[in-house]
Amino acid sequence: MSIATNEHITVEKIKKSKLDQVDFDNLTFGKNFTDYMFECDYKDGKWQNPTIKPYGNLELSPATKVFHYGQAVFEGMKAYKDDQGEVFLFRPEDNFKRINISSKRMAIPEFPREFFFEALHTLVQLDKDWVQPGEGNSLYIRPFAMATEVGVSAAPSDEYKFMIIMAPAQAYYTGDVRVVIAEQFSRSADGGVGFAKAAGNYGAQFYPTNLAREKGFQQVIWTDAKEHKYLEEAGTMNVFFRIGDTLITAPTSDRILDGVTRKSVLKLAEHNGIKAEVRRIQVSELVEAAKNGTLKEIFGAGTAAVISPVSAFSYQETVYDIPKQEDSYAKRFKKELMDIQQNRADDPFGWRYPV
Ligand code: COI
Repeated sequence: MSIATNEHITVEKIKKSKLDQVDFDNLTFGKNFTDYMFECDYKDGKWQNPTIKPYGNLELSPATKVFHYGQAVFEGMKAYKDDQGEVFLFRPEDNFKRINISSKRMAIPEFPREFFFEALHTLVQLDKDWVQPGEGNSLYIRPFAMATEVGVSAAPSDEYKFMIIMAPAQAYYTGDVRVVIAEQFSRSADGGVGFAKAAGNYGAQFYPTNLAREKGFQQVIWTDAKEHKYLEEAGTMNVFFRIGDTLITAPTSDRILDGVTRKSVLKLAEHNGIKAEVRRIQVSELVEAAKNGTLKEIFGAGTAAVISPVSAFSYQETVYDIPKQEDSYAKRFKKELMDIQQNRADDPFGWRYPV
């Protein structure tokens, strides 16, 4: 996957930090960005001029291809600080691999491994004070790539920009999440881009999600595009169902994102001796389990949202409430995951990556 390069990253220093302008106790997700950002251009067939510079605006022509054809991909990852002030990334190798998988599907050239890791290291070091210790705090890291060739011909761009921006974060959802099961709209289809973190994948969900919001729900659980019969993924998260004491999640495919938190939960389940099934699950099975009392939990798993319990789902105009569990798997996985991420527990799987 990696491309060799001999170039090193240039760093342009800030004049003054914005750190004192941020209220770390009242953060809105993805609104306050750190002092630095990373930028690298693809021109003449190669990635070049990797630079870390003060966070700021870009100047782009209105004819830049990304504005017209949405040729863009992104990643979501996090850095954490432990009580001793050490900073860690969580499974960054998985994000690196995935952004290049997404890029390939969107005809964007693969980004070199050494730029990715050197950029992450240097950025996180420079903005170390933006990573707050303590439960629930993290630094959300957003790598992304976009088509920057000027011109509106509908063909792949021959110029791109790869960037990394970072924002201190707390919870993505402040409370339980209520979801609507999709009966009309679809997120992805066979042969499509559902597995990729393509920008338009997310934008296309906003309208159906708005309709759900108007009815008092925060998210949509997407079903298969053919029959709306199988449960697949939530808007910004993979989704798990606990029926009895068995955990069920859909298999990854070209419709479903290979989530880093999803695979971490499956690993933790195995480690804890919790039965987990990776298989297709029908909406009818979920409704039946809700009716006969065996549906114990639904939760979403994602980098931004971590583990988010679902408190109710709506299907065919009926709302099914999910009673709170004493022995909640969601709570347990969230604690175990965060303890590993913030270096409060051993890391038997080698997920922590010191910066
Ligand atoms: C993430 O969890 O990093 C995501 O990609 C969700 C994002 C769309 C807010």
